[in-house]
Amino acid sequence: MKNSYTEKEQYYGDYLALDKILDAQFPESEARGVEAHDEMLFIIVHQTYELWFKQIMHELNSIIEIFNESEINDNSASLQIATHRTNRIIEIWRLLVSQITVIETMSSMDFLDFRDLLSPASGFQSYQFRQLEAKLGLKMENRHAKCYYEHQLTEEHVEGIREVEKQTSLIDLIGQWLERIPFWDDAYWQNFEVAEGADTTLHPFWATYRKIYQDGLSKGEMSAISMKDFDALFLGKGDLTTRLSTRACQAILFITLYRDYPLLQTPYQFINKWLEIDELMAMWRYRHISMVKTTIGMRAGTGGSTGASYLKGAMEKHHIFGDFARLTTYLIPRTKLPKLPKELIDKMHFSI
Ligand code: HEM
Repeated sequence: MKNSYTEKEQYYGDYLALDKILDAQFPESEARGVEAHDEMLFIIVHQTYELWFKQIMHELNSIIEIFNESEINDNSASLQIATHRTNRIIEIWRLLVSQITVIETMSSMDFLDFRDLLSPASGFQSYQFRQLEAKLGLKMENRHAKCYYEHQLTEEHVEGIREVEKQTSLIDLIGQWLERIPFWDDAYWQNFEVAEGADTTLHPFWATYRKIYQDGLSKGEMSAISMKDFDALFLGKGDLTTRLSTRACQAILFITLYRDYPLLQTPYQFINKWLEIDELMAMWRYRHISMVKTTIGMRAGTGGSTGASYLKGAMEKHHIFGDFARLTTYLIPRTKLPKLPKELIDKMHFSI
């Protein structure tokens, strides 16, 4: 007996709009009567990436919405939801990195069968990828070879990216949240004992931490690590350019050092996950470059860039959470951590 479905009941294919999705592959080679078996794979792999980019944007938009709230309680459901969704983005990026092996089954000769037919289209024109970078915090002036953008994207897409840039990016929202964290209120530090020989003009914690850190540097490290950078990052002295403010840098370091306190666990995980995403995106870029090298060698891209050499520049320049990674230079072993004032410790435990 044939089943019939009422308007309110869902049928698998209709619910997923499979008629649209499965009827959206139009190999140019087929249209032009040229045999190019692998063009179907090329199209489907790109479409799959775009679907996952859509899901990443869906998660990212919701995280941005949470961070746009003026107040986030660090153990509230909203920070946990943001962390959970960030984790989902991580798993999708892992998949996107490993998925490159599928397109790698296409040989250079197989690609040459249809490559000219798709020119000048290129992954460079992926609007979702560009929006994603901008939402995270990449600005047009910091993009590698930014002249390509105006030549290769439609005016509408360039305008769309600029519109996204006008909104507060995720990294800036995270920075604002970190600045609001109240570790440094005087009330906590009145009874804190500053380390002997430390600069007493500084905040008691930073005076002590700076001293312990400097004393702990080995001879080799002393020549490589500049205390000037330490002072610029955590004391606001000097002219080092950073994306995050001094207060935000202080908060990240503090959260990382004292992450074992219950109140700091979710903030630590959240920050660390974004560092992981930055790394995964760089890994994807790296895998994409090696795949490009084996498929087209040193040829120019269909989008008109210098190909592998352009991509290498973008990989090096398009990190967004680089400040997070840089701060790990200034960690010290747990055994040397300054003991925090009781008032602050009380605040960082869950009270029953
Ligand atoms: C045979 C496979 C592929 C080749 C030979 C290739 C080649 C290239 C080249 C040469 C570029 C630089 C721009 C240009 O001049 O065209 C580029 C950019 C790009 N491609 Fe691919 N690609 C391939 C597969 C993919 C896949 C499966 C994706 C998934 C979405 C992808 C996404 C991108 C993106 C997002 C960019 C811009 C990267 C940036 O500007 O940082 N590509 N690709």
